[in-house]
Amino acid sequence: MKLAFWKKKSGGSAGQVDFDHLPRHVAIILDGNGRWAKRRGLPRTAGHRAGAENFRKIATYCRDIGLEYLTVYAFSTENWKRPEEEVDAILDLLRRYMLEALDTMERDRVRLCFMGDRSVFNQELRELAARCDEVSQRIEGCQCNICLNYGSHAEIVRAAQNFAKDCINGSVKLEDLTEERFEDYLYSAGIPSPELLIRPGGEQRLSNFLLWQCAYTEFYFTDVLWPDFSIEELHKALAAYQRRDRRFGGVKK
Ligand code: IPE
Ligand code: IPE
Ligand code: MG
Repeated sequence: MKLAFWKKKSGGSAGQVDFDHLPRHVAIILDGNGRWAKRRGLPRTAGHRAGAENFRKIATYCRDIGLEYLTVYAFSTENWKRPEEEVDAILDLLRRYMLEALDTMERDRVRLCFMGDRSVFNQELRELAARCDEVSQRIEGCQCNICLNYGSHAEIVRAAQNFAKDCINGSVKLEDLTEERFEDYLYSAGIPSPELLIRPGGEQRLSNFLLWQCAYTEFYFTDVLWPDFSIEELHKALAAYQRRDRRFGGVKK
C-alpha cells in the first residue's frame, strides 16, 4: 500500500526500481554540503544544516520503502582538521538532531544508532547518543547508523585491540579467530555488509569509510551535492545497483 503510494508519487524514476528486491543495507557518504553552500554565497554551516534536513527526508523515505539499514558518514576521524567553528557547528547540529530524534523516533519508527569513538565528545552529546541507543533498542523500524568520529582504520585497530584483550583474559583463543568472529569486534557487529554505497558530491573515494564492510559492496558515485540528493537521485542509485551483476568472484549465471 505504502510502496504503491510512493511509486506513484515519485513519478517516472521509481519505475526503474524493483521495490521487491531492494538491498537490505545502503551506506551513504554525506558529501558536498560545503560546496552547496558556497554556490549560494552562504557559509559552509548553512550547507551542513541543509544536509541534515536532507538526511531526515532520505532516512524517512528509506523507512517507507522498507530498507532495513541505512549507514551514513556524518563526521570522520579526519574532519577534526577543519576550522574549529565548522566542527562546533556540525556537532551542534548533531546535538539538535538527536534531541529532536528522541521525541520523534518512536513515532517515526526510525532507529538512530551511532558508530565511531564517542569518548571524545562532551557529556551532553554522549548522553544524548546513549539515550538514542536506548530508545532504538525497544523500537522496530529502519536502523540508521550515523558514523560520528568514525574512521575505518581506527575501527579495525580497535577491533584488533579488543580481540587481543579477549585473548589475554582467556575468553577467546587466537586460533578461533575467523573473518566472521573478527566482524563481531567492529562497530558494525551484527549488521550485514552494505550491498550499495552511494557517494554524492563528485569525489570517487572512500575517505576511510567502511573499508572492511565494503569488500563486495557496489559503489555509486554522483556529482549531485548531498543537500540536493533527492528521492529521485536515490531511485537512480537503486536502479543502477539493480542492474549490476554481482559475481562475488564466481562466474556469471
Ligand atoms: C560533508 O560535506 C560533511 C562533512 C564532512 C561533515 P563537506 O563539508 O565535506 O562538503 P564539501 O565536500 O566541502 O563540499
Ligand atoms: C567524507 O567527506 C567524510 C564525511 C562525509 C563525513 P570529506 O569531505 O571529509 O572527504 P574528503 O576530504 O573529500 O576525502
Ligand atoms: Mg567533502
